[in-house]
Amino acid sequence: MSTKPIGIFDSGVGGTSIWKEVHALLPNENTIYLADSHNAPYGPKGKERITELSTKNVELLIKKGCKLIVVACNTATTNAIKHLRINYNIPFIGIEPAIKPAALKTQTKSVGILATKGTLASDLFHETTDLYSNGIHIIEQEGEGIVQLIESGQLNSDEMKALLDIYLKPMLDANMDYLVLGCTHYTYLMPMLIEMLPNHIKIIDSGEAVAKQTKSVLDKHQLLNTHSTISKHQFFTNGNPEVMQSLLGEGFKVEYLEF
Ligand code: DGL
Repeated sequence: MSTKPIGIFDSGVGGTSIWKEVHALLPNENTIYLADSHNAPYGPKGKERITELSTKNVELLIKKGCKLIVVACNTATTNAIKHLRINYNIPFIGIEPAIKPAALKTQTKSVGILATKGTLASDLFHETTDLYSNGIHIIEQEGEGIVQLIESGQLNSDEMKALLDIYLKPMLDANMDYLVLGCTHYTYLMPMLIEMLPNHIKIIDSGEAVAKQTKSVLDKHQLLNTHSTISKHQFFTNGNPEVMQSLLGEGFKVEYLEF
């Protein structure tokens, strides 16, 4: 049993989509969320820099007493989680694009994946794709510019719609029936994507799976918080708190912090 908080970080606000899943499944747990929006996007930065930034976030969360860390960023997971697991004696939960369920369920044998440059270039992503892509056409698309638009509060903008039109076209031309969202920011595009895509195309992300895995690892390490007092949640950003506030809704306070 541990009342210590779960730490969650992302390059910015996207990981709040994961925080929502974790909070829904584990309402007793206290949490601390770090949005490294000042350094977003991580996608184009390269493995070494992504590892450095992830290390900085992890050290702050450990200093704040976290018992487990959710790397709520596909780019940080695919580039840095091996390093983090080797260097810090705390359980880590990562997030990777949900290629496996899409590849197992596709009828058209055509799966689209929208992710950052850093995720698509990573060894971990290639290892997973190689395992499950036998006989399946995987259309990889970098979502260049999407994270920046979300970070600057332009989620539902004409610019976003125009970018998505470009990025979805090759996937639609290839007759995909599954679209995998390989970046935690992209979960917030779900309403727009549902409107833009034909009904038969299913859109999947890994949020629920990450929450389940978090629960199972806490349980395994006997770290679940079984206290039924009201849980406490702290949200820190080194960017504009208003953007995160608008994604979280009322009831949760977002604080500016330099880190
Ligand atoms: N939310 C991050 C991810 O899941 C965005 C990466 C970025 O900052 O480019 O990949």
